Amino acid sequence: MTGGRYQSFEPVAESYDRTRVIPDKAREEIARVVAREARLAGGGLFLDAGVGTGRLAVPLARRHPGQVVGVDIAPAMLARVGDKDGAAGLSLVQGDLQRLPFAAGTFQAAMMVHILHLIEQWPLVLHEAKRVLTPAGGVLFLGVEQGGRSRLVDFYYERARARRLLAPSVGSASLAPVVAALRRPTYSGGFGASVSQLSTPSLHWERVVPVSQTFDALASRTYSQMWGIPDAAHAELLSELTDYAARTFRGDAPTETLASRLILHAVRF
Ligand SMILES: C[S@@+](CC[C@H](N)C(=O)[O-])C[C@H]1O[C@@H](n2cnc3c(N)ncnc32)[C@H](O)[C@@H]1O
Repeated sequence: MTGGRYQSFEPVAESYDRTRVIPDKAREEIARVVAREARLAGGGLFLDAGVGTGRLAVPLARRHPGQVVGVDIAPAMLARVGDKDGAAGLSLVQGDLQRLPFAAGTFQAAMMVHILHLIEQWPLVLHEAKRVLTPAGGVLFLGVEQGGRSRLVDFYYERARARRLLAPSVGSASLAPVVAALRRPTYSGGFGASVSQLSTPSLHWERVVPVSQTFDALASRTYSQMWGIPDAAHAELLSELTDYAARTFRGDAPTETLASRLILHAVRF
């Protein structure tokens, strides 16, 4: 199978860390849970497939006695890993998750957080993950953030969706079809994998976010579903959003409190 369409984050690399914030404490906790579940205490190679700016791989590299390897298609995202504290334990490779440049059985564990909605041929990405994991005890973590949606984002998305301006996901819109394909037996074209959602009550966080910051993120079309919206339509939506914000939020510097959590599945092929 050859690769299909995907969404590189090259155009939003500069703003990514500002607009997709997970507080340090939560990132440390995610690294702790992943390291424990993957049994990384003894070392070994760990793959962050779609590493982005390293917001999750860097804390993992700080606590992992082995080596963490991050792959991403977007050089500008990889460049942002830069000199983050802990980045020394992280090796970066520019590459396509549909054709990983690694030999079979290389990694003890891997993770993909917020990846499969961006890649049309997401089953191919899963086949590649399976191939590069060690058959003995290799584990893949699939993660998505839930919640954390600002009322401003909801308003913009609802209006854009009503006008059929919001692009459907290039890849899988949610993890449900992915989990179903992973669990389906191989004789029916699935992966025959075991998938368990980790019970992680610690993986939740709250952030107080200035409304102006969310407005700026929307204005600069930071979210991938907005990238195809024509300029004129985007300007109209922003004008409606300005009115909505004025009606909804009071005070000189209004904020919203956004509650999020990370859903993590452990996949064993
Ligand atoms: C939403 S970001 C997630 C980054 C990171 N996992 C995190 O949670 O911060 C998705 C990343 O996937 C990368 N990506 C998209 N398609 C890809 C592909 N075919 N191969 C490798 N990386 C890809 C994008 O460039 C982007 O950096």
